[in-house]
Amino acid sequence: ETIAIETRILPADATGIAAAAAVFARGGLVAFPTETVYGLGADASNAAAVTRLYQAKGRPAFNPLIAHVADVAAARRIGRFDAVAERLAQAFWPGPLTLVLPQAEGCPVADLATAGLDTVAIRVPAHPVARALLAAFGGAVVAPSANISGHVSPTMAAHVAADLDGRIDLILDGGAVEVGVESTIIGCFDEPTLLRPGGVPREAIEAVLGRPLARAAAAEAQASEQPLAPGMLASHYAPRAAVRLAATEVAPDEALLAFGPVAIPGAADAAAMLNLSPSGDPAEAATHLFGYLRSLDAKGARSIAVMPIPDDGLGEAINDRLRRAAAPR
Ligand code: TXA
Ligand code: MG
Repeated sequence: ETIAIETRILPADATGIAAAAAVFARGGLVAFPTETVYGLGADASNAAAVTRLYQAKGRPAFNPLIAHVADVAAARRIGRFDAVAERLAQAFWPGPLTLVLPQAEGCPVADLATAGLDTVAIRVPAHPVARALLAAFGGAVVAPSANISGHVSPTMAAHVAADLDGRIDLILDGGAVEVGVESTIIGCFDEPTLLRPGGVPREAIEAVLGRPLARAAAAEAQASEQPLAPGMLASHYAPRAAVRLAATEVAPDEALLAFGPVAIPGAADAAAMLNLSPSGDPAEAATHLFGYLRSLDAKGARSIAVMPIPDDGLGEAINDRLRRAAAPR
């Protein structure tokens, strides 16, 4: 069905944040900046609000949401922390890390938001607007990325409006985000498991734990079916154009998404070109990734050719998103 409501856009100042907290309190939907990407938030304890959130995004109900809270004390009311979870929370919160934990007794998050699992994903974001908003509202806020399900994630308010105008109540404009890829998701199971690479590099987490992370290999394999850690849906982050990875040359009817020095045949004649990081810095590349995919897509080229990007640091998360952008749809 069509959803047609008026979407307000407000600056993320004290007035905007107070308005946003009031929207949450009456069960509405607010897009707000986090340090990773813009999130589309709803009161985590309000099943009707969570239903509206899934509808606004066109998100399949089997794909659970992340509960965002202001601090570790609030997180403990939602999930049960083991020693690994304690260490990771201590080291990386507030910040771009999500922990999947067994639900605490009396967990306030609506069952719909956890897709009926007995675990729950929790994050304490670092962005000052997100923190102020969570403090003003006082409860947990579930927030997927603020895009239509399957599209490229939003890193500025204009991206949110392009996807969700007329479908949500309010967009808080807090400018461009810093990290540019979503949070790293760690499952605190028998073995700590990397469910989604993201804003905290794997190396940093392994250094804190003093051991390698397990990979969610089984989940990858069944990704298109029943995602265990589904940001793991095979096709995701997809622009309209086709995406061609590890390009070593570029055709005249392709756009080029470059990384590092550009010395590949055809670059000068490509339909368009943007360079994620001319100096080859993966953190700079992550900041630009989703915005450049949107910009190149808007040029209307048949396909976007992407130069190879090394897998270290934030490169692992970038390559994960690009593989999903390139997956068969
Ligand atoms: O950086 C981020 O994480 C952003 C910002 C807004 O915080 N949010 C975000 O949410 O990326 P979303 O919905 O796009 O991705 C959440 C991921 C999904 O892949 C979902 O399947 C997974 O978290 N997830 C949520 N609950 C889970 C659970 N109990 N077990 C395993 N995976 C879970
Ligand atoms: Mg998303």
